[in-house]
Amino acid sequence: MATAQKNIVILISGGGSNMAVIARTAEKEAWRSRWGVQVAAVISNKASAGGLELAKGMGIATAVVPHTAYASREAFDAELMAQIDRHSPALVVLAGFMRILTPGFVAHYAGRLINIHPSLLPAFPGLHTHQRAIDAGCTVAGVTVHQVTAELDHGETLAQAVVPVLPGDTAETLAARVLTQEHLIYPKAVRAFFERAA
Ligand code: GRF
Repeated sequence: MATAQKNIVILISGGGSNMAVIARTAEKEAWRSRWGVQVAAVISNKASAGGLELAKGMGIATAVVPHTAYASREAFDAELMAQIDRHSPALVVLAGFMRILTPGFVAHYAGRLINIHPSLLPAFPGLHTHQRAIDAGCTVAGVTVHQVTAELDHGETLAQAVVPVLPGDTAETLAARVLTQEHLIYPKAVRAFFERAA
């Protein structure tokens, strides 16, 4: 039986399907009683993010820190950190969080900040990964879970999954195929983070 409580804070900007699958897996696999691990809060930079309602429906605390309300990245990140640190997180999970984070933010959560990126890193860091993979003539694409470091979409790889690029694929059809793999590997990578720490 685990002792100290280990909180996960998940940051989202959109639909939150990765967030939801992590939270559901935590429930289903009883992470709280096994490792003291729970999803304590979901925070979005967008009030319209669909994932906020999903999180509320699962009884998870939510908060919004709208990036448009802050004059600089540093000011936004300072408020974001304040909101996150209310939950003393053991792990901060970026799940479709579409903001570039400052080096100060990344340093503050060094070793306990992970991201999912829809490409086989180090290929295609940044945006529009699916279209770029199609345009480059790739026959496979995929997804990477990685530690976050100051350089965008770099950092130690924790998990990857590969999918085929099929004839006639569009960015949308490829993204949907990749997303099914995201939902498989992200909960596993989060669980592995705590298993390693246990
Ligand atoms: C995922 O494809 C993630 O890899 C990308 O944004 C999407 C987020 O989806 N960066 P969701 O919000 O988890 O549904």
